[in-house]
Amino acid sequence: MKGVILAGGTGSRLHPLTSLLNKHLLPVGKYPMIVYGIERLRQAGITDMLIIIGKQSAGLYTDFLGSGSDYGVQLTYRIQEKAGGIAEALDLARSYMHPEEKFTVLLGDNLFKEDLGPVIERFKQQPPGSARVLLKKVADARRYGVPVFDPERPESISKIEEKPENPQSKYCVTGIYMYDTAVFDKIRQINPSARGELEITDVNNCYAAEGKLEYDILRRYWSDAGTFASLQEAGIKMKGLLP
Ligand code: G1P
Repeated sequence: MKGVILAGGTGSRLHPLTSLLNKHLLPVGKYPMIVYGIERLRQAGITDMLIIIGKQSAGLYTDFLGSGSDYGVQLTYRIQEKAGGIAEALDLARSYMHPEEKFTVLLGDNLFKEDLGPVIERFKQQPPGSARVLLKKVADARRYGVPVFDPERPESISKIEEKPENPQSKYCVTGIYMYDTAVFDKIRQINPSARGELEITDVNNCYAAEGKLEYDILRRYWSDAGTFASLQEAGIKMKGLLP
């Protein structure tokens, strides 16, 4: 099992800091944000990972993280030339994977305390060509992708609505996704959204439509650290996760 961390986004809500430094290098406690994702994957037994970064601060990533050996992992980097959506960024992982390989994808700004090990074990039991996402109960689901459940098939998600006016559940789909290489065919099937991006929610909805999107619910702290308030809170909550 390999890992992919998507760290290309510009982080406009964290301006002006992000006009200087890429969001995923901003400090969260003692470490740049990206280190927490690397550590979460490593603790779940994933040591081969691809980090997808934008051109901004690209040299700082390699200066700071290097080969990954200080963190007990082996890192590979890909550059996302321009922001085109999460699914477009994920497509850059295509040549990094072996045929039919399974992998875990993290959005680099998703900070969380849950151990991914048991979730990954459940995903490994799923049939080829299916996917798994992690959900979290949130106060304002309208800011996120929101799952819709079918009472007749409670083990899978029937649809995800991206930033809905009237959320149909209290959960958000976090930026923690598990796929195999079938995801790259799904990315080929979708079209850019109204904001001109290839949306990960459209990819996940391809799985949902086929009844192949399973989920787990995060019980411990999770945040997407996209605002100053959530970034500050993350610095406190994530304390102790790393030495
Ligand atoms: C993205 C996804 C959304 C998900 C969120 C989690 O939103 O599109 O479905 O709930 O990440 O962090 P964005 O943060 O790009 O608006």
